[in-house]
Amino acid sequence: MLSLRNAFNPGEVAEFLASVRNFLGLDADAQTPVTAEPKIDGVSVSLRYEAGKFTQGATRGDGREGEDITPNLRGIAEIPQLLPQVPEMPELLEVRGEIYMNRQDFLDFNRRQQERGDKVFANPRNAASGSLRQLDAEVAAQRPLRFFAYGWGEASGLPWNGQKQALEMLRSWGFAVSDLVRLCNGLDDMLAAHQAMETARASLPCEIDGVVYKIDRLDWRERLGALARAPRWAIAHKFPAEEVESVIEDIIIQVGRTGTLTPVAKLVPVFVSGVMVSHASLHNEDEIARKDVRIGDAVLVRRAGEVIPQIVSVVKARRPPDAEAFAFPQHCPECGAPAVRETNSGSGEESAARRCMAGLTCPAQALERLAHFVSRNGFDIEGLGRKHLEMFFAEGSIRHPDDIFTLQQRDKGALAQREGWGEKSAQNLFAAIDARREISLERFLFALGIRHIGDATARLLAFHYGSLARLRAALERIVASAADNAATEAKTEAAALSLPGMANSAEVSEEEGFSGEDWEALIAIDGVSAIMAEPLVLFFSEAHNRAVVDGLLAAGVAVRDAQAPAQESPLHGKTVVFTGRLASLSRAEAKARAQQLGMRVVGAVSKSVDFLVAGEDSGSKLKQAQALGVEIIDEEEWLARCRQ
Ligand code: IVH
Repeated sequence: MLSLRNAFNPGEVAEFLASVRNFLGLDADAQTPVTAEPKIDGVSVSLRYEAGKFTQGATRGDGREGEDITPNLRGIAEIPQLLPQVPEMPELLEVRGEIYMNRQDFLDFNRRQQERGDKVFANPRNAASGSLRQLDAEVAAQRPLRFFAYGWGEASGLPWNGQKQALEMLRSWGFAVSDLVRLCNGLDDMLAAHQAMETARASLPCEIDGVVYKIDRLDWRERLGALARAPRWAIAHKFPAEEVESVIEDIIIQVGRTGTLTPVAKLVPVFVSGVMVSHASLHNEDEIARKDVRIGDAVLVRRAGEVIPQIVSVVKARRPPDAEAFAFPQHCPECGAPAVRETNSGSGEESAARRCMAGLTCPAQALERLAHFVSRNGFDIEGLGRKHLEMFFAEGSIRHPDDIFTLQQRDKGALAQREGWGEKSAQNLFAAIDARREISLERFLFALGIRHIGDATARLLAFHYGSLARLRAALERIVASAADNAATEAKTEAAALSLPGMANSAEVSEEEGFSGEDWEALIAIDGVSAIMAEPLVLFFSEAHNRAVVDGLLAAGVAVRDAQAPAQESPLHGKTVVFTGRLASLSRAEAKARAQQLGMRVVGAVSKSVDFLVAGEDSGSKLKQAQALGVEIIDEEEWLARCRQ
């Protein structure tokens, strides 16, 4: 189950529409019907119907794997157990939608909970989510849960060809569908629907936090496909967030796993959009200076979506007379090492973040990395929480990720003897570690905690390279060629200055920038930019990081190869260059399709390019391909090969 990208203003909605038209190769003023639907803040679920019978329901989880909550879903009146026996009913149909609670139902429910001395929830969404996780289905059935349908997942043949039609059919089969759904044409129409829903917002029985726009036509959606996490054919246009006043009690500096010093404001606790807020991110030192945030200031606080709350502005009129400008530390508060602002290799700009330069010798960084390593999207080791990690770290038994997998072997019964532990808990921990010795490539990459490599990027890399060995080989070639270039440059410079020996000092540094075929292929992956790719290459260029990876493998960690989605395509692994204008699809679509088939799309023609797709008015690249003897095909042939 995918998620949605967010837009926060009309400009971003316009961009969405323009990018869809561009991708599909439509004119800027072409008709593009879009549905506008309320975005209800609840918990998304997928309901599986076989021959019209509800057979299984699951939460979204991490998008690929959720929790089976079938018994609890059976108790929800708005989920039909049986669909009508109509001829157009697909044999298999997954209906997607949101489980939520109405505002009044939530308040009544919370009051009853409080009276009984049971848990009260912060907002309707948490109440819905907590109720779905209830272990007792009978208790769950007492909760005032509702369901509204907004889409579908797997299906054996669809009886509709547009979003609006789908929602109408789902409604006729007994699903609750929002009455506010509108079919729009063009930006103005979409923004009008947004405005109408924002006006209706306060009087609706449930909380909505925005409008979801979806391209109506399914044939277009299929062509548009998806980015790493979200479809290209939809976007959520959020409503502006509620702003509440509070006071800054202190500014704390947190050190993250990559050494970034993040200032966080400690606030007098306040309720913002239904959640108690006591901390807000201040992002970085420029942000503090720009907003002139000081300890003691009255500030406006906002919660934007799921992320940590933000400070909108300072209420200057209420500033205490003795408030002093905040002096951002120049040293890491955890280890005392210098904290510096690096210069970006590409733009030459100073980075906004100040980072502790001590790397893994900084205990805060090392500990954060370990916590990240075992976190849910990483190795997901249950029972190795932060408290435990801190203990093992302090005594030195776990300092690097690979230590986790040799812990039992080195332990020799010591853990069981420790206070608060015992034979059983020690065995449980070792079993939990053992259970994660085999891991997918994407989780492995995520767990390494490389800057900019989140779970979505890790997945893209895993699909693209297929195996750790292949990824490493490509990265090592990039490093080697950068070192070569640096050596050559240094030699030339040394020769010019007649300073012998300088060539030896050549190293891969961030200033050089990378180039070459492997680098081009890496940054050509849709969703991977040079900014993301650079830390990845640098990570594998450092011996101590390679030692961690080797250590993990030596400790018996087995990294499963990724199943490339289109391994069967004869085009898989081939390198292609597009040039000229294509008639039936845009450049972006052609590139996305190639990548879906496991191809590498590069910008420059070289000997290692497998073929060039030449559109109309192809220029110099066509000539280069001819000169190098690279195979040249036209658009029609390209499309035919894609279908193979
Ligand atoms: S469509 C592939 N439509 O918002 C697109 N989602 O932020 C899947 N949501 O996970 C989502 N109302 O839980 C869609 N009308 C609506 C929605 C909606 C609420 C939730 C859903 C999704 C989340 C994404």
